Amino acid sequence: MGQEISVRATSFGNVAIFDLDRSLTGQEPEIFRRPPSGDSPPERLARRLWGSDGQLSSVQILSNTVTVARSDPWTEEDLAEAADIITKLFAHYEAPDPAEYYESLRAANYNATIGAIRRHHEDLWVMRIVPDEPLEHFDAGQYTTLALGFWEPRADHVMEDFESDPGQLEKMARRSYSVSSSIINDDGQLARAQPEAIEFYIVQVPPDEEEIPALTPRIFMKDVQDRIFMSRKFTGRYTLAGVENGDNVVFLSTGTGEAPQNAMTAELLRREHQGQVLNVVCVRYLRDLAYLDQQSVVEERYPNYRYEAITTREPEDEGNKVYIQDLVESGRLEEMLGAPLDPDGTHVFLCGNPAMIGLPKWDDDGEIHFPSRQGVSELLFQRGFTIDHRRERGNVHFEEYWKES
Ligand SMILES: Cc1cc2nc3c(=O)[nH]c(=O)nc-3n(C[C@H](O)[C@H](O)[C@H](O)COP(=O)(O)OP(=O)(O)OC[C@H]3O[C@@H](n4cnc5c(N)ncnc54)[C@H](O)[C@@H]3O)c2cc1C
Ligand SMILES: NC(=O)c1ccc[n+]([C@@H]2O[C@H](COP(=O)([O-])OP(=O)(O)OC[C@H]3O[C@@H](n4cnc5c(N)ncnc54)[C@H](OP(=O)(O)O)[C@@H]3O)[C@@H](O)[C@H]2O)c1
Repeated sequence: MGQEISVRATSFGNVAIFDLDRSLTGQEPEIFRRPPSGDSPPERLARRLWGSDGQLSSVQILSNTVTVARSDPWTEEDLAEAADIITKLFAHYEAPDPAEYYESLRAANYNATIGAIRRHHEDLWVMRIVPDEPLEHFDAGQYTTLALGFWEPRADHVMEDFESDPGQLEKMARRSYSVSSSIINDDGQLARAQPEAIEFYIVQVPPDEEEIPALTPRIFMKDVQDRIFMSRKFTGRYTLAGVENGDNVVFLSTGTGEAPQNAMTAELLRREHQGQVLNVVCVRYLRDLAYLDQQSVVEERYPNYRYEAITTREPEDEGNKVYIQDLVESGRLEEMLGAPLDPDGTHVFLCGNPAMIGLPKWDDDGEIHFPSRQGVSELLFQRGFTIDHRRERGNVHFEEYWKES
């Protein structure tokens, strides 16, 4: 038996609007003009509303809003009765089998299918997700939201405590993910700009004393053909806007921060970019590089492209750990680029661990304040680069994957 839904009801003449504390559908509305016969939660709800009120003319359910029209104006009693039916939608659910119940939640909430998974290692996957409907255009480097219900099982078997908020079990764990891209496909061709299946590069985060990760342990239980939620809104200013064809482009990332860098690299190569393109990734171990094999093929084919990976926890790194910041300071990055790090004609893209990025804060006067632990942003700022920011377009672009606590 599920938890009661909490409902706020308002009416305007013949129309009543019920705001629920959880979603019953995805982003597409479900509209009923007669009692439906199916067994999804929206269908069951519409049927029950009709069953108690013969005057209904339509029921529309979109996410957590139910809009009900009837031929006569709503009275206080009608409104209370309909609200009660909605409240008890799941409490009256008669299916003894939780699997069936969770399947109905999946049907109501998910809008895409996992088309492929490349399990590079047990905690690092490249996944392709196929939306039910074709997507609008988006730019290389942008991100979207993936989500799975809290009812889904976890790979790490951690027990979450939902007692203080029992309705949580029927909600969705949502997180942002950069769109990734293989640079070349299995057939050796450059990846398409707007493929049918959207690629993501995801690491499974383990729990620690401070944080229980919500989404990745659930993603890592999934398989090909399983359903998932992928937002249809792709967003972000971490794109190639402002990069001219002859500019040098330097991508610097940690871990899965390589995702948007590869998507933008593929876009630059499709555009036959003339400047140098350098893609540097810092990972703990060599095994944490899921795109390594294809990078050497790309490098061979495109003389202006160079890929460099550095590790920090391999035996040879002991006592000699080199971070991306060190590459900037030592001049090694310029050697890799084969050109000076000149703010005039160079764009730098920083993605992943916020400590590597070292993003400053801007005060109300537009003054810039860097964190005490120096990241790449400050080093570049000192060399005359401008940090891209909503008030000013710059040539240092960033995408932080989480906020430093
Ligand atoms: C714009 C944007 C794009 C993102 N793109 C990606 C992506 O392409 N691939 C990806 O794996 N993640 C990406 N993330 C991170 C993602 O949103 C999740 O935070 C991450 O997958 C962990 O989710 P979770 O619910 O399991 O744990 P959460 O509760 O979200 O995170 C718990 C902790 O795990 C650590 N962490 C989170 N993400 C990462 C990561 N990627 N690498 C190392 N440590 C991490 C942080 O310390 C964080 O506080 C992106 C985040 C943002 C804001
Ligand atoms: N079980 C596995 O096989 C496995 C493998 C990979 C990841 N994971 C898990 O996945 C999560 C993500 O790990 P991740 O390695 O992808 O991401 P990460 O922790 O952000 O590390 C990526 C790289 O960034 C480096 N880094 C850390 N702090 C930095 C700083 N201040 N400046 C510059 N660089 C810095 C790391 O070096 P350091 O060596 O100094 O940290 C590492 O080389 C973690 O929770 C991890 O436990 C598990």
